[in-house]
Amino acid sequence: MTSPEAWKRAAAEHAADWVRSGMVVGLGAGSTAELALRRIASLLARGALSDILGVPCSRAVGEAAARLGVPLTTLEAHPVIDLTIDGADEVDASFALVKGAGGALLHEKIVAQASRREVIVVDASKPSPCIGTRCALPVEVVPFGWRTEALFLESLGARVQVRAAASGAPFRTDEDNMILDCELGPIRAPHELSRRLAERAGIVEHGLFLDLATDLVIGGADGVRHLTRADEGART
Ligand code: A5P
Repeated sequence: MTSPEAWKRAAAEHAADWVRSGMVVGLGAGSTAELALRRIASLLARGALSDILGVPCSRAVGEAAARLGVPLTTLEAHPVIDLTIDGADEVDASFALVKGAGGALLHEKIVAQASRREVIVVDASKPSPCIGTRCALPVEVVPFGWRTEALFLESLGARVQVRAAASGAPFRTDEDNMILDCELGPIRAPHELSRRLAERAGIVEHGLFLDLATDLVIGGADGVRHLTRADEGART
């Protein structure tokens, strides 16, 4: 396989083939998760799958799923999800992730926490020796007091940038919050950072996804690799 796009597609389709008829499926946000969604839609269209209900991680994903003919449900109606397929921006060997480049991190994390199996699909550019090395950490804040939260994040060593929409105005999430992108460099103690962020009233959520991914599917030049967290545990 020659291009990162082809790697992503192969990995996304590999994961989508784990969806079984009758499942409630979490539909992640981002370009990789969309490739999985397209595969699920095509399996449904040709009758290889039936009775799927999707829980979309963003308004845009819900609209895309509806266009593709994938039936949707909500977490209110189905609070437990069988399998979620989502992407990530950076992932390390312990399956710690940075997510949220698309701005859907809050709903993605709620869906991940509701999922029996959280499958993360990435291309070979995403694995990293230490998360934070390549990506800024998105932090979702309520607009009230966002500058106070930005100062707090700076006190933790972050270089903070307010995420902007295409119009130049501050980006707003599906919950009408703002995102502060935090360049931190390698995050050596992610659980400690996660705890400190969770203590702040103005911080709604952040893009550190720790102990959530059960499976990692990596598409690369040599094909698709599947790792499970259980395997990782056995090796360490
Ligand atoms: C959306 O908010 C993100 O968490 C995405 O899942 C992540 O940015 C990966 O996106 P791509 O698959 O487009 O790289």
